[in-house]
Amino acid sequence: MGALRVVPVMNLQFSALLFLLALLPQLVSAAPPVLSGQAIFQKNCVRCHGANGKRGLNGAHDLTKSNLNEFGRTYLVVNGLGKMPAFGKKLTAAEVQQVVAYSLTLKQ
Ligand code: HEC
Repeated sequence: MGALRVVPVMNLQFSALLFLLALLPQLVSAAPPVLSGQAIFQKNCVRCHGANGKRGLNGAHDLTKSNLNEFGRTYLVVNGLGKMPAFGKKLTAAEVQQVVAYSLTLKQ
């Protein structure tokens, strides 16, 4: 009779395992999607800088002519300057890095 008692316990553990396995893809996909630098730029920067970086709304500097390097741009995006809003609370560090990298590709 001892064996009969063990079986339901094992089934319980097995179904718990199945449950966790079934949940796993949802846990993974629940992580926020990683947006590409271009997508982040379109969402947050285009309204002032324009898709090509040249729009110049509110005195926004032409990004194609900017001499700021990655470090300077990161500082500016995180902290803002004048009419340029700070994005330090809105974007993650990784997103800032991606959007800055994308802004550096706007060179013509
Ligand atoms: C509300 C309008 C606005 C938005 C939105 C905006 N900017 Fe700006 N940006 C400005 C203004 C205005 C300046 C000029 C700031 C100054 O020098 O006083 C500027 C300057 C900059 C500069 C420095 C250029 C230089 O060489 O002087 C960079 C780089 C920059 N922005 C990148 C970005 C990025 C990347 C985003 C999106 C995450 C963004 N900006 C969103 C208005 C904006």
